[in-house]
Amino acid sequence: MKDTILKIKENAKNEIKKADNLQILNDVRVKYLGKKGELTVVLRGMGALTPEERPIIGSLVNEARDEIENEIQLKEKELKAEILKEKLEKEKIDITMPSKKIELGSVHPITAIIDNVKEIFLGLGYEVVDGPEIEKAIYNFDKLNTPPDHPARDVQDTFYITDDIVLRSQTSPVQARVMETQKPPIKIICPGKVYRSDSVDATHSPVFHQIEGLVVDKNISMSDLKGTLETFAKKCLGENTQIRFRPHHFPFTEPSAEADVSCFVCKGKGCRVCKNEGWIELLGCGMVHPNVLENCGIDPNIYSGFAFGFGVERIAMAKYGIDDMRLLYENDVRFLKQF
Ligand code: DAH
Repeated sequence: MKDTILKIKENAKNEIKKADNLQILNDVRVKYLGKKGELTVVLRGMGALTPEERPIIGSLVNEARDEIENEIQLKEKELKAEILKEKLEKEKIDITMPSKKIELGSVHPITAIIDNVKEIFLGLGYEVVDGPEIEKAIYNFDKLNTPPDHPARDVQDTFYITDDIVLRSQTSPVQARVMETQKPPIKIICPGKVYRSDSVDATHSPVFHQIEGLVVDKNISMSDLKGTLETFAKKCLGENTQIRFRPHHFPFTEPSAEADVSCFVCKGKGCRVCKNEGWIELLGCGMVHPNVLENCGIDPNIYSGFAFGFGVERIAMAKYGIDDMRLLYENDVRFLKQF
């Protein structure tokens, strides 16, 4: 029996030595130490031994089992270390390899215009404010002196969410929001998206961008408005830009005007961009209507103000010579990369 045990031990050690992966090693463990393993079978046969032999053989079996188990564990460590080493070698990072190219985007022309306008007005001491795109009709219309029967309030022109809530059709409601929460002196601009029930074509989009401006203080006059807009036009479109004012009507300003700038492409001679007019319509503006001041809690007998608002797309298209507004929204990189 003693010989059998020594033989089993030797065979097991040989097989452990030869095992070159964890699966084989596990098979060896089962073969010798498992429930039906060779050593276990020897233990079961001990009943046939004499009482004197039993403890001697018993301790021989235990010794053999411990030795085999030890060898298996050592081998297992060795195999695992090998696997790790192989993996580390395979996954080595070559820091001298050229990196993946990061595609750099460019500033969108709409963003570029907004950034430029912000910079100009910040330089003139204005604050940049924000307002909600989903707006109460009372701010989009009523407080701005726009009565219920005004055509702009028609569902043909404005997106209604409920009777009282609209997608703002202009950035002008921000004027009312600012006047209600801030007391004069007020000097703000507000860039943002506006919505109108228009179908898409080369010059229309149901979503576009406007920038609103508002100044309220004591003794603000039309000449402040003209001087401000002239400074703005020159800084934004070039020092030689001329500006002219035509009478117009807006419900929230009195008097109201539209301002044109001399075409900065042909310098006023007439070209495709200005449709041979020599002038390009730039914005709407005027002196804040006393009703609007009053609606927003500012005394029109003490304060006066001016306001203006313009479309960002229109300026971007003129400035960059873009003839179709849809190009601005398609996000075709070949188009955007040009700016
Ligand atoms: N909100 C006007 C529009 O969308 C533009 C405008 C005109 C804004 C005159 C003003 C203003 O602040 O004074 O057509």
